[in-house]
Amino acid sequence: MGKIIIVGATKGGVGKSVSTYNLAYSLASVGKKVLAIDFDSQANLTTCFGVEDTAAVPVTIGHLMMAQIDDEELPDPSEYIMNRNGVDFIPSSMVLSAVDAKLRLEMGAERMLANILEPLRDLYDYLVIDTCPALGALTINALAAADGVVITVNPQLLAMMGLQEFLRTIKKIKSRINPKLEVEGILLTMCEARTNLCKVISEQVTETFEGQIRIFESKIPSTVKVGESVYYSEPLLEYAPQTKACKAYLDFGKELIGYEGKSA
Ligand SMILES: Nc1ncnc2c1ncn2[C@@H]1O[C@H](COP(=O)(O)OP(=O)(O)O)[C@@H](O)[C@H]1O
Ligand SMILES: [Mg+2]
Repeated sequence: MGKIIIVGATKGGVGKSVSTYNLAYSLASVGKKVLAIDFDSQANLTTCFGVEDTAAVPVTIGHLMMAQIDDEELPDPSEYIMNRNGVDFIPSSMVLSAVDAKLRLEMGAERMLANILEPLRDLYDYLVIDTCPALGALTINALAAADGVVITVNPQLLAMMGLQEFLRTIKKIKSRINPKLEVEGILLTMCEARTNLCKVISEQVTETFEGQIRIFESKIPSTVKVGESVYYSEPLLEYAPQTKACKAYLDFGKELIGYEGKSA
C-alpha cells in the first residue's frame, strides 16, 4: 500500500512545489511508482509537469474535490491521472480555490482528499502532495490524508516563522482526525552556498528541534538551474542531472524512504 507524503509549510516561496516535483522523479529513479498530486489552486506543480493551460484540463483535483463534497461518483482514474516521463500526476487549476471556499461551509469535510486518494494507494508506492501556503481547509484536508509531512524551510525567508504554528496544527490533526500522521522531517531548500545563512539557520533549526524532528542531511542548494528547469517543464534529473541540486534531491528522496540500494 502506497505511502502518502505531503510537502508543506505555512509560507509560499519555500520550495514546496519544486521539491514535490523533483522528489517525485527522485523516487521514480529508484524504481518507485509515484503519483504526484497538485493541491494548490495556483497549479505550479501542474505547470512543472508541462500543462500550459490548466483552465482547459477537464478533470482536476478541484473537480474531484467538488464531486466528493457533493457525494457524487468520481470519474475513472484514467480520466484524471496524467503522466509525464514515468511519473503520474493529478493536475490542479483555479477550480480548487472554489473548493476552498466551499469547504469552509461544510461540516466534517476534512477527509475529502483522503477519500479520493485511499483507493489509489494500491496503485503506487508513494503519493506526494504539493500544498498551498495557507493553513486553511485545503491544507487540513491534505494533512488528514497523509501518512507523513515533509516541511520545507527556506533559510532566506525567516525560516522559523510560522513553523511552530504549523507543528501545532499537525499535532491537532494527528490527535483529532488522522492518528497515523507523522512529521518526516525538515528539508532546507535554497541554501545559498556563498553565504553563511544556510549553516546558521540549519544550526538554529537543529538546536530547536533536536531529538524531536529530523533535519534531513540533504540540503538543497540555491541554483538558477531550478528556475530554468521549471521554465522548461523538466525535472532536474533531465534538465541538469550533474548539478548539486539534482544530487541533493536524489539523496533527499533516498533519505526520506530509507533507501539503501545502488544509485539509479
Ligand atoms: N533550490 C532552488 N534554487 C533556486 N531557486 C529555487 C530553488 N527552489 C525553488 N526555487 C525558486 O523559488 C521560487 C519558489 O519555489 P516554489 O517551489 O514554487 O515554492 P512554494 O511552492 O513553496 O511557493 C520559484 O520561483 C522556484 O523556481
Ligand atoms: Mg507552490
